[in-house]
Amino acid sequence: MRFVDLKIEDIAFGGKGVGRAQGKAVFVPYTIEGELVSAEVVREKKQFAEAELVEVKESSPHRVEPQCPYFGRCGGCTYQHVSYEHQLAIKWRQVRDALQRIGKLKDIPMRPIIPSPRQYAYRNRITVHAQDGVIGFFRRDSHTLLDIERCPISRDEVNRALAELRAQTHVRDGHYTLRASASARVFSQTNDEVANALRDLIVDLVRPNQQLLIDAYCGSGFFAKALLDKFERVIGIDWDRFAIGAACETATEKEVYIAGDVESELQQVGAVHPNRTVSANDVQASRLRSIAPTTLIVDPPATGLSEAVRKAIVDLPPTALIYISCNPPTLARDLRELQDQFIIESVTPLDMFPQTAEIEVAASLRAVPPAS
Ligand SMILES: C[S@@+](CC[C@H](N)C(=O)[O-])C[C@H]1O[C@@H](n2cnc3c(N)ncnc32)[C@H](O)[C@@H]1O
Repeated sequence: MRFVDLKIEDIAFGGKGVGRAQGKAVFVPYTIEGELVSAEVVREKKQFAEAELVEVKESSPHRVEPQCPYFGRCGGCTYQHVSYEHQLAIKWRQVRDALQRIGKLKDIPMRPIIPSPRQYAYRNRITVHAQDGVIGFFRRDSHTLLDIERCPISRDEVNRALAELRAQTHVRDGHYTLRASASARVFSQTNDEVANALRDLIVDLVRPNQQLLIDAYCGSGFFAKALLDKFERVIGIDWDRFAIGAACETATEKEVYIAGDVESELQQVGAVHPNRTVSANDVQASRLRSIAPTTLIVDPPATGLSEAVRKAIVDLPPTALIYISCNPPTLARDLRELQDQFIIESVTPLDMFPQTAEIEVAASLRAVPPAS
């Protein structure tokens, strides 16, 4: 293995610093742009190399002391060595760059990133793994477990649950989801304060006095329920039956929740669009489906929207589209595909997961008016 001295030029998506040695890009975790470092190359590829940090020779003014003793070994956090202000700047830039590079978008209406009020002790749930008496998280770039006594980015209640699990005399091998509060086993946002900020942002972005909202990938209706005042009707779609069950429990007359695949359900909405004829099974849903949605919210998993979902959106099309993403590259790909039909009005990154490389983004779009 060879050693290289590098100037770190940028932070790549995922959090590794990038420098160049003999013209080749070298990725070095736990570095910051502007730093001079020496690193040991551990993986050599044709186009790039990966290296481990050996020494920071000239350190960035943004470098701070990590708060977690496992930082650098644990696969969870990426940025504990970076000041919080600078983490926000890195994430904002990465969203813009992904939209420019992958999305081929110009003049992106970027808004400032929404920070997390808590930079540590924010996670309201974690999943730990147990194997052969070791209880913790996977090591970075590995499938072996790191024994974890306490996770500083998790809330105190979560750490208490971890201590209780660890105190048991025999913990069976497997996965354990530890939560700050007992709640249904459905998807819920992980950082309460930033989730509330995201919900308030969406409420702000959606105009009042509209006819129909479709909340696709709705979970238990986190966005739909916050927007009830603005719509005559609301349809939520998610394939998680437990989440749909939870959404139905508190549903008012104007809400309908469908347990199904967004791909087929959205196509059906398009199919009974005023100009087409297809009957749907569910009587109430079919009545709602005959109304063209005025706003569509999509909050897909990291893989983003499938080609069929993108096509269903274009076929509808809703007057307003709000896309919430936990993966800027797939957001960028999807916005590229939708750019002929929709105008991007704003892009707002949110820091749902401080200290980690994860980025949440809310993009607000409006349908291009039909040519007259
Ligand atoms: C990022 S979560 C969003 C949940 C919700 N919007 C919230 O804020 O609580 C993604 C959701 O999409 C659902 N999901 C993923 N793929 C789906 C698909 N093809 N059809 C329907 N639901 C899907 C998952 O069950 C999950 O609830």
